[in-house]
Amino acid sequence: MAPTADIEDEIKDEKNPPPLDEDDIALLKTYGLGPYSTSIKKAEKEIKEMAKKINDLCGIKESDTGLAAPSQWDLVSDKQMMQEEQPLQVARCTKIISPNTEDAKYVINVKQIAKFVVGLGDKVSPTDIEEGMRVGVDRNKYQIQIPLPPKIDPSVTMMTVEEKPDVTYNDVGGCKEQIEKMREVVELPMLHPEKFVKLGIDPPKGVLCYGPPGTGKTLLARAVANRTDACFIRVIGSELVQKYVGEGARMVRELFQMARSKKACIVFFDEVDAIGGARFDDGVGGDNEVQRTMLEIVNQLDGFDARGNIKVLMATNRPDTLDPALLRPGRLDRKVEFGLPDLESRTQIFKIHTRTMNCERDIRFELLARLCPNSTGADIRSVCTEAGMYAIRARRKTVTEKDFLDAVNKVIKGYQKFSATPKYMVYN
Ligand SMILES: Nc1ncnc2c1ncn2[C@@H]1O[C@H](COP(=O)(O)OP(=O)(O)O)[C@@H](O)[C@H]1O
Ligand SMILES: [Mg+2]
Repeated sequence: MAPTADIEDEIKDEKNPPPLDEDDIALLKTYGLGPYSTSIKKAEKEIKEMAKKINDLCGIKESDTGLAAPSQWDLVSDKQMMQEEQPLQVARCTKIISPNTEDAKYVINVKQIAKFVVGLGDKVSPTDIEEGMRVGVDRNKYQIQIPLPPKIDPSVTMMTVEEKPDVTYNDVGGCKEQIEKMREVVELPMLHPEKFVKLGIDPPKGVLCYGPPGTGKTLLARAVANRTDACFIRVIGSELVQKYVGEGARMVRELFQMARSKKACIVFFDEVDAIGGARFDDGVGGDNEVQRTMLEIVNQLDGFDARGNIKVLMATNRPDTLDPALLRPGRLDRKVEFGLPDLESRTQIFKIHTRTMNCERDIRFELLARLCPNSTGADIRSVCTEAGMYAIRARRKTVTEKDFLDAVNKVIKGYQKFSATPKYMVYN
């Protein structure tokens, strides 16, 4: 009988343990401490302080560059070391003679000098070197010392989007269908390639987004970039229009070369009509260069494997001017239209853009959306900004519904003259 009572008592104790008093806390604080840890800590601190004091007295300061103070520089020996260490020369390994054997030889081409048949340096393994690679060779025996990465134009490297844009799918109002389609093409083949293999079809290589300006094409592409872990390269069509013949095509080539070197990559061509215009003969030949660039894109689109991890997105306002060659199935198979937002989407867009604004409590966004027929997401954003301006002019800290109504009047009615929407509708 007695033991069970004890256990019951214990359980009761566990349920409401007595609060810790100061002695307990002091005891707990000593847990995990070695006998000397406090004194060691104290000694360490003292040593640090002493070192700092000595440094101060010697005049050594920590510099941002990581260089020692000038008084400690040893320029002479540095110079000597640099002289001993000869700079390498860049060459291209054009061919490997009898590869995978003990005495493999490498044909290298040093620009403007000659071709040589050479061996490997001590620090390179034969598996590192492939045909067509850039390599560094020494200047005496021209042995291959180091494999070099492919040379890519810095302006092409600049196009990668490293920082994720802060736009998410939540910031895109409406466009449900478009988001679905985009994700299907971009995410599904990257995440579940086996589904396509099983069915025996090639996933679409790319998507063309088209629709009137301001309907969120660029916005959605940015949301995709934010979402995926793949490398994202953004090119604006006009960036590829270059001064010299062949430059644009070369940039496209290097762009895809860079894309292929990544594990997964999305290439986004914005405003592609700058280069993707239909081929025609203007009699002068001025546009030939632009067409050549476009043809290189077509060529590259054909070149990469659809199951590979490169996806191409393009966006344009003028799908009718694009070259049919770019759009034929097998290149950009998917065409996603961005239409004008419907009532529900417009309400949603209003809500998105007023999310960060200091608004009155119950603004009837649906009414506002009703008042903006045939307007794009960009128009609605402009309405919101304008409403804020009205509030600022009236020196108020919150935006009222009246501000919004005034803004609708001003933006939607007043700017109708500039709207590109009716023009676009003719093309549709
Ligand atoms: N569906 C939308 N939802 C939310 N904002 C939108 C939407 N469409 C357009 N916008 C707003 O309009 C601006 C311009 O849109 P953008 O995507 O650049 O247009 P385009 O289709 O011409 O590339 C965006 O920055 C965004 O603020
Ligand atoms: Mg755009």
